[in-house]
Parts: sequence; C-alpha cells; structure tokens
Amino acid sequence: MIAVGSPTLENSVTRPTRPTRPTRPTRPHQRPRMQSIHSDSMITALRQGFQENFGSLPEVLSRAPGRLEILGNHTDYNEGTVLSVAVDRAMHIAASPAPGSSGLCRVVDLVSDSRRTIDLHSLEQPRKGDWGNYIKGLIVELHRREIRVPAFDAVLYGTVPLSAGMSSSAALEMAMLLVLLKLAGVELPWLECAKIGQACENHYVGANTGLLDQVSSLKGKKGHLIYSDFRHYTVDNVPIPQGTAFVVANSMVKHNLTNEYNERREACEEAVHILAGAYPGVKALRDVTVQQLHAAEKLLPPLVFRRALHVVGEIDRVETGREALRKGDIAGFGKRMQQSHQSSMENFENSCPEIDRLVEIGQTLPGYLGARISGGGFGGISVHLVQSQDAQNYQKSLEKADQERCGIQTATMLCQADDGARLLNCNASVKLDGSGIF
Ligand code: GLA
Repeated sequence: MIAVGSPTLENSVTRPTRPTRPTRPTRPHQRPRMQSIHSDSMITALRQGFQENFGSLPEVLSRAPGRLEILGNHTDYNEGTVLSVAVDRAMHIAASPAPGSSGLCRVVDLVSDSRRTIDLHSLEQPRKGDWGNYIKGLIVELHRREIRVPAFDAVLYGTVPLSAGMSSSAALEMAMLLVLLKLAGVELPWLECAKIGQACENHYVGANTGLLDQVSSLKGKKGHLIYSDFRHYTVDNVPIPQGTAFVVANSMVKHNLTNEYNERREACEEAVHILAGAYPGVKALRDVTVQQLHAAEKLLPPLVFRRALHVVGEIDRVETGREALRKGDIAGFGKRMQQSHQSSMENFENSCPEIDRLVEIGQTLPGYLGARISGGGFGGISVHLVQSQDAQNYQKSLEKADQERCGIQTATMLCQADDGARLLNCNASVKLDGSGIF
C-alpha cells in the first residue's frame, strides 16, 4: 500500500537512535544494493529511543512484517486466492500509556525523526498523505467497535521500504493495532485485526484496498508462502521450495494506490455486474472461469474484459501454481509468475516501463525462475524467484544491467519468508533485520 506518508519518511534510511546505532546503511543514491544490518540491538534501540523521547521504558513492543505478493494480483477484492509471503522487513513499535489524562498521544518515527501528536478527541480529519492517518484511522475503527484506547506514547522503527508495494502501511497498521489492543486490554481474532486495518485504509486513508496486506502481515510463517482464500477467509502455509530465493528489485517509481487502484476495482465490479446477467450465480470474478469469460467477451467493453481477464487468469494461476509447488515443479511455478507479469502489462495495465525492464533483464540471467510486479502496481517493486545459489550474482547482474540500460541505480535485496505480526518480549533481544534503504 501507499507509503507511511511524509516526505521525510519517504526518503528514510534505517537509523536507530543513539547510542545503539548499528552500522549505518548508505543512502540509495550512494550505493543502491540493499544492505542487511545484523544486530542484536532492535529491542535495545526501541527501548532507548523510547526512553530518550519520553523519559521512561516502554511497556509494550510489537513487530509486524511487510509482504511480497507472489501470485494473485488484484484477486483479493474479487474473492479470489493469493500466494504471498511475509518478509524479514518489518515495522517495530515500542509504546506505553501516556501519563496524565490529556488524551494526547505522541508518536515518534525513529527512522526519519518525525513526530505526530494525535488527539484522541479530534480524530475526524485525515491529513492528506500523512502517516499519522494510519494510526488515527485505526483508533477510529476501534472506537466504532466500542474499544477505547488510552492515550499513549510510541516510537516506530520501520525497515519495510516505503511506497514500494511491500505493504509498509499494513506493517504499520498491524504493529500499531497489536499495541493498541494490548493497551486497551482487548484480544481480537486475527481476521478481525486484518479487517480493522483494511477499514482504516478504506474509510480513513481513502484507498479501497482488499485484505491481502494485513492478512499477509499477520499470517506469515518462516520458510513458507501464505495461501489465502478471500471468499472463505482461510489461510494455509505452503513450504517455499528448497534451493530458491526471492530477489526484490525496486523500480524507484513510487506507487500511490488511491486513484488507479480504485479505478481498477470499479472495472472489476462492472465486469461482475455484466457477467452476472450471463451466468446466474456469479457474485464475484472468483465465480467465472477463463473459458466462461472468453465466451462472454462480446458482452463486455474491451477494457473491462481485459481487466477481468487479468483477475480471472490470476486466480487460475494461483491454483495451478500451488499445484505445481505441491508437485515440486518449480519451473512451472516460475512460468506462472512470468505469465502473471505479462497479464499485468497487457490486461490490467498496472505495471510501468521501469518494472517491465527489470523483469525482462531477469529473464536473461542465470538462476532466473520467474519474475513479476508485486502488489498494487503502478510502480513499486518486481519480485524475482531465483535459484538460491545464483541469487547474489543475480542481484549484482540485475543492478548492473539496469544501470547500463538506463542509468538508474536499482536497489535490490534478498528477502526471507518470516513469521507474522506479534508482540515482543520487552526484555528479550531480537535481530535487527534488513534495513529499508530503498
Ligand atoms: C494492494 C492492496 C491489496 C491487493 C494488492 C493487489 O497491495 O492493498 O489489497 O489488492 O494491492 O493484489
């Protein structure tokens, strides 16, 4: 989803507060390659960041990962299925109830050193493009459910690249929601948590997005893909084939999903409306097969047909791709990723030349299995499934070839499948995962 928001955050590099600063990553324009910071200092950094800002230690810590969409583009709001993965890039939050009874919450982003004050009595107005909206929107949704959140102080530390299609906003929402629920003394089922995040996006931020990002952030599992069914709201974890890795390459085109995304969604709704006339019982694009859609082509405006074809084709690719994984047919799975990208280019038109180029270069490199745009689209990242043994060379070659072709320094990174959102033990130490220096 769209970036956490402020220009400062958009340009952020991972930078915990003193004195536990780990090796500082270089900025993208200095050296594009994604660096991993390995440190045992995340919790220490959060605790110290909190103490420096608020003069005490935090009571609650949380972590929620970003995600990659591997197959199943724009299928979630069409009641379809998706294969995604929660990654080792996450939002981390430390928080405590605020002293006094002013109703004011203070939130500091340690990465960009930007701050917001949120008044619990004045939540009505989203500020356009502001990352504070994701927090205010959650509180509004909790109030709707009659869950009262006490005023709180919090520090944030995010390592999910922003505006890149890796769901930095869902990571923020889910990490913050865990904190808010803990402070309110309330437990909710995971699906309800995901829906609160989605409602925040839909009603407060103004992006009519589906549930994929929140579900992926909540239901990740190390070494596994997440297979989600958005009609039955079930998830299953599917092992990632041994010997493969995900390379992510950022097109550096910042995506913003509010306009074009909503338009694509409307086209899907129009298709359902028309197809329901031809095929009784059709309630969503999930109910239509590729063959049925082709048979009804003449009924649909050409553009609407192509939008629908993408979604229906994607649902088919998720199912056959999952079957390929079950049989150990990695090449077959990679091929579907490739077809998915082709369909994004031709039918859904949610790719961009920068991503197309990365995918095209990938196809020429040793170790390539499949590549595609990941997430909402209109910029952001491409995800490449590669043989692990070739992954590092693949990264280097992709960066070099892209630089040679167009002078842009693409940032690439290797992503590991990680566990879903959780509260952290305040006294434990965890590894600081890869930085979000895209
Ligand atoms: C964005 C949305 C998701 C999903 C994807 C496209 O990430 O937030 O709900 O629709 O785009 O698959």
